[in-house]
Amino acid sequence: MTERIEHHPVLPEPPAADDANFTFNGESYVGRTGEPVAAALLAAGVRELRTSPVAGEPRGLYCGIGHCYECRLWLGPDEETAERVRGCQAPISDGDTYRSTRGCDS
Ligand code: FES
Repeated sequence: MTERIEHHPVLPEPPAADDANFTFNGESYVGRTGEPVAAALLAAGVRELRTSPVAGEPRGLYCGIGHCYECRLWLGPDEETAERVRGCQAPISDGDTYRSTRGCDS
């Protein structure tokens, strides 16, 4: 089941896009190539993207425009080379591997 808005009464239809298979915290998801990973996860019902550094509280999409950094994630298959990205800005590609930032690694 998806929570994606497929038809909006005011906005135009989004352009067609190929599926992009990606993982988040080891789980497999399918999004649309080029859409922000946070949008694809939200459409899949995932609201927690990371935890806060001090209290370990869940954090998720907040501003959605790249300003607040509440959506920061790791992109890359291994910890040595992964780069930190903002989930609301990072376009997904087929095969991407994301994981949450946790506590002080965020
Ligand atoms: S949700 Fe604010 S920077 Fe991504």
